[in-house]
Amino acid sequence: MTGRVEGKIALVTGGASGIGRASAMSLASEGAFLLVTDVDDALGAATVGAIEEAGGRAAFLRLDVAIESEWQAVVDQIRSDQGGLHILVNNAGIAIGGSLLEMSLEDWRRQQAINLDGVFLGMKHSIPLMRDSGGGSIVNISSVAGLKGSANLAGYCATKGGVRLLTKGAALECAHNGWKVRVNSVHPGVIDTPIWDKVNPEFLAGANAVDLDAMASAGVPMGVPGNPQDIANGVLFLASDDSSYMTGSELVIDGGIMA
Ligand SMILES: NC(=O)c1ccc[n+]([C@@H]2O[C@H](COP(=O)([O-])OP(=O)(O)OC[C@H]3O[C@@H](n4cnc5c(N)ncnc54)[C@H](O)[C@@H]3O)[C@@H](O)[C@H]2O)c1
Repeated sequence: MTGRVEGKIALVTGGASGIGRASAMSLASEGAFLLVTDVDDALGAATVGAIEEAGGRAAFLRLDVAIESEWQAVVDQIRSDQGGLHILVNNAGIAIGGSLLEMSLEDWRRQQAINLDGVFLGMKHSIPLMRDSGGGSIVNISSVAGLKGSANLAGYCATKGGVRLLTKGAALECAHNGWKVRVNSVHPGVIDTPIWDKVNPEFLAGANAVDLDAMASAGVPMGVPGNPQDIANGVLFLASDDSSYMTGSELVIDGGIMA
C-alpha cells in the first residue's frame, strides 16, 4: 500500500518532543523522508531512532528556528543532499506565561523570536526550494491562543495570532504566484506534551506544576486533554494531497474549546 505522503521530503521543526515528534513519526509512517530538526540534539536523535525502528527514514539536523543563518544552512544542505523539499511543519514553540505587567521585554522578544520569527524564517527560506521541487504543503502550528485571548498568556497569544495571519498572507502570496505551495495553520487546544512541564513559575501562581487534567476538565468541553497524535493526524491531513484544495485555512483541534 502506498503511504499518503510517499516519496515526499519533509522538515519538522521542534521534532524532538510532543506535537513535533508525533507529526514527524506520522509523516514517516506514511512514506515521507523526515528531516527532524530541533535545538535538543539528544531528543532529536531519539525521534530519528524511533522513526527508523518503526521502519521509516529520517535524519536529524540541528536548527534553532530563530536564527536566520541556521535556516539558510539547513535549506542549502537539504537542497544538495535530498534535492528537494515538499512538506514543512513549523512547529517549534515555547510558552511564557504570567502577567503582561511583569513580562520582561527580553522574554517578550524571545517568545516572538521562536514562535513567530521562526515561522517567518522557515517559510522565507523553504518556499523557494519547495517551489523548485514542484510545490508542497506548509503547516504552521498556531494555537487556540491564536484565535482568542487568554489571561496571563498575552505575549503567547500575540505570537500565535501572528502565526495565524502570517499563514494566510503567505498562502495568498504562493497562490497568486502559482508556486503550488499550500500554507495552512493548525490550532491545538490543551494537548498533553512536555511544554506544560517547562512553564515558568509566574504562570503557576504558587502551584508546583500545571494540573492538565483539572485544566481540561474545567475548560475543555470534551473534558480531557488531547494527545500529540490528535494534532499529528491533522498535520498529516494538511501535509498530504487529501487537503489539496485547502490553503490559507485554519484547522482547529481542541475538544470543543472554540465551539
Ligand atoms: N501542548 C499544547 O497544549 C499546545 C497547544 C497549542 C499549541 N501548541 C504549540 O505546539 C507546538 C509544539 O509544542 P509542544 O506542546 O509539542 O511542546 P514541546 O515543548 O513538547 O516541544 C517543543 C519543541 O520545540 C523545541 N524548541 C524550542 N525552542 C526551539 C528553537 N529555538 N528552535 C528549534 N526548536 C525549538 C523544543 O526543544 C521542543 O523539542 C508549539 O508551537 C506550541 O506553542 C501546543
